Amino acid sequence: MIATTLPDASPSLVDGFGRVHTDLRISVTDRCNLRCTYCMPLEVAFKPRDELLTYEEIARVVRVAAGLGIRTIRLTGGEPLVRSRIDVLVRELVAIPGIEDVAMTTNGLLLAEQAAPLYAAGLSRLNVSLDSLREEVFEKIARRKGLDRVLAGLAAAQAAGFRSIRINAVSIRGLTEDEIVPLAALCRREGFHLRFIEFMPLDADGAWSNEQVLSGCEVREILAASVGLLVPAVRSDAAQPAVDYLWADGGGSVGFIDPVTSPFCGQCDRLRLTADGQFRNCLFSTTEWDVRQALRTDGSSMGRDSGSVVDEQIACLLRACVAAKRAAHGIGTPEFARPARAMYQIGG
Ligand code: 5AD
Ligand code: SF4
Repeated sequence: MIATTLPDASPSLVDGFGRVHTDLRISVTDRCNLRCTYCMPLEVAFKPRDELLTYEEIARVVRVAAGLGIRTIRLTGGEPLVRSRIDVLVRELVAIPGIEDVAMTTNGLLLAEQAAPLYAAGLSRLNVSLDSLREEVFEKIARRKGLDRVLAGLAAAQAAGFRSIRINAVSIRGLTEDEIVPLAALCRREGFHLRFIEFMPLDADGAWSNEQVLSGCEVREILAASVGLLVPAVRSDAAQPAVDYLWADGGGSVGFIDPVTSPFCGQCDRLRLTADGQFRNCLFSTTEWDVRQALRTDGSSMGRDSGSVVDEQIACLLRACVAAKRAAHGIGTPEFARPARAMYQIGG
């Protein structure tokens, strides 16, 4: 028998370190109604509308990705709710065979109006970014007002039926220490899952420094001293970047995402699609794969069904993106290079 080398026809997106990729984070816009210091510059030039993928294009990418093993989707931004009728996209993605879960990360400002249609469209989970419960600190971080609207958005999300609401709080030394305990009290009272995220070098202003990283460990010490005993929870999903703890008194859970002090790259199962149609294999990627160009190429010139040619190209790009994934982001190592894009241009 003659040995033949077949092209990689495996349905899974496995990288060179054996990591299987099942999660795709999709940024739907780089626009935002806040200007958080750890993410955006104060003055910002957004991408022209025609450079952003349309909902049709996003759904097409997701159909191909689902065929390669992607099972969960998270919509991010910028701020996803500033893009009009995002519930229409949610409904479309939820219906794609293979997709088991569509979630969203939002700053909550527009949630009061949109929580009900999002729930009706099949959005399963919501992460709401909230770093402080004091208007002056909220405004210092977000450089705009909005705390009342976020709180109204959270109430609307509960009323709409959302059950797994998570609060994401970025921890920054010298800025957020006093916000930790009030946030924990709110989450314990309302049944929100609270997650503290270490400040990562993805701020547009390039002001990040290691000294500003308030570690998850330090946040835990503050919580233990002021709120109560935390006990490590049993890990149910190894690919989950957060390490969860339970309040010993039964008051719910708190998670810690510590990308700087304890990188979770070893179990990473995530890929990203930017709003302008670039695949990335890491928040800290310095390379991108241009799926927008593939989507907007006329496949009919290649002499076959134009749809399938484009879908094959999308699949090839996704495989190439996965194959090139590095073992770890390397923050803190001499080789670490900040990506050219900031958080709002990548999607959290
Ligand atoms: N470091 C850590 N977290 C960040 N986020 C945005 N920028 C940064 C950063 N530089 C968070 C937001 C949001 C999530 C998507 O990422 O608060 O909750
Ligand atoms: Fe907007 Fe979120 Fe960035 Fe803040 S962190 S500027 S809310 S995208």
